[in-house]
Amino acid sequence: MIVGIPKETADGERRVALVPELVGKLKGVQVLVEKGAGEAAGFPDALYAQKGAQTAADARDLFGRADLVLKVSPPTPAEAALYKEGAASVSFLVPSMSAQTLAALKDRRATVFSMNLLPRISRAQFMDALSSQATVSGYRAVVIASESLPKFFPMLITAAGTVSPAKVFVIGAGVAGLQAIATAHRMGALVEAYDLRPAVKEQIESLGAKFVSLPVEAADAQTSGGYAKAQSEDFYRRQRELMAKAVTAADAVITTALVPGKPAPKLVTAEAVRGMRPGSVIVDLAAEQGGNCELTEPGKSVVKHGVTIHGPLNLPSALPAQASQLYARNLTAFAGLLIKDGAFKLNLDDELVRGSMVLNAGQAPQPAEAVAAGGAK
Ligand code: NAI
Repeated sequence: MIVGIPKETADGERRVALVPELVGKLKGVQVLVEKGAGEAAGFPDALYAQKGAQTAADARDLFGRADLVLKVSPPTPAEAALYKEGAASVSFLVPSMSAQTLAALKDRRATVFSMNLLPRISRAQFMDALSSQATVSGYRAVVIASESLPKFFPMLITAAGTVSPAKVFVIGAGVAGLQAIATAHRMGALVEAYDLRPAVKEQIESLGAKFVSLPVEAADAQTSGGYAKAQSEDFYRRQRELMAKAVTAADAVITTALVPGKPAPKLVTAEAVRGMRPGSVIVDLAAEQGGNCELTEPGKSVVKHGVTIHGPLNLPSALPAQASQLYARNLTAFAGLLIKDGAFKLNLDDELVRGSMVLNAGQAPQPAEAVAAGGAK
């Protein structure tokens, strides 16, 4: 059995799905790495070869030979058409956004898994690629904020007097938000955070931040999977009004609020941005889903009313070596569910296999919920 690692082709993608140190982790299989696949992440071909991987000359060679393809971005339709018949594909594929790719993979009778759909149960923690990559984003957001804020983060006591610490307000305390809180706190900032799920108050406080409590309560804040539920427009309007005070008091606002399958809720208004001190910073981690701030321009950094607003896309790619290392650990753990003694052995009774499956040998899996849930994130 051959496990193939292609060179990523999406714009700006520097990660790779497998790092050299984990080549030997996939027992009983031959690893095939496309020439230059790890280069942008700092892993030259020679390092993979030292660990026993073979090198594929190009994408055609790679996709034509691999029985299981591990990838970061979903394959493009052209890549999907190159898959070996009956091969399997694992990537961050969002079914609702990859119709053409899925049609091509169906033609190849491929079995397709999405790391976006993997149920986030305790047993899946080692494989939880959404969490590992969100951790990178949360950290990186604080680095961006500190870099563009024309102020110190920590409090300083100097002979010339005391410098007060920066105030950081984090909106949304999921995986990325909690990492942003921890990082900003470690850098010495005064951190406040808010989430509509009251369950995270303790987690916020345990990281040394203050939980901002708003006198507006979501009727039904959380799904059984721990995600936020979409709320009424009236609720969001109240939230925006009440949150403006914390936003305008902050030097840096980091927004991470997402609702699976929906555009990001708009929580920071243009009016609130206008109320912030000049030189303040917003890092909008929800930019890929449209942004939490009304003035965010996804993929750009803009200055509005004297406030720098960053709308970064694909932040994990900014730390490609470690983001790849974490993702590769997730993937090798996941591949362990699919491969036994060097051959595919799919246990469709395993909720992790079933839940993450998008196509089974070109067909919608049974039961079909996995497909229906497509695009959950
Ligand atoms: P996410 O990326 O979907 O959302 C980020 C955060 O935004 C969430 O905390 C959400 O409550 C918050 N949010 C949404 N709308 C908001 C609003 N209007 N105002 C303020 N905050 C808002 O979530 P993520 O980080 O992928 O995971 C969220 C939860 O999923 C975790 O906290 C946990 O409960 C669960 N999870 C469980 C795992 C497990 O192993 N059991 C692993 C990872 C996550």
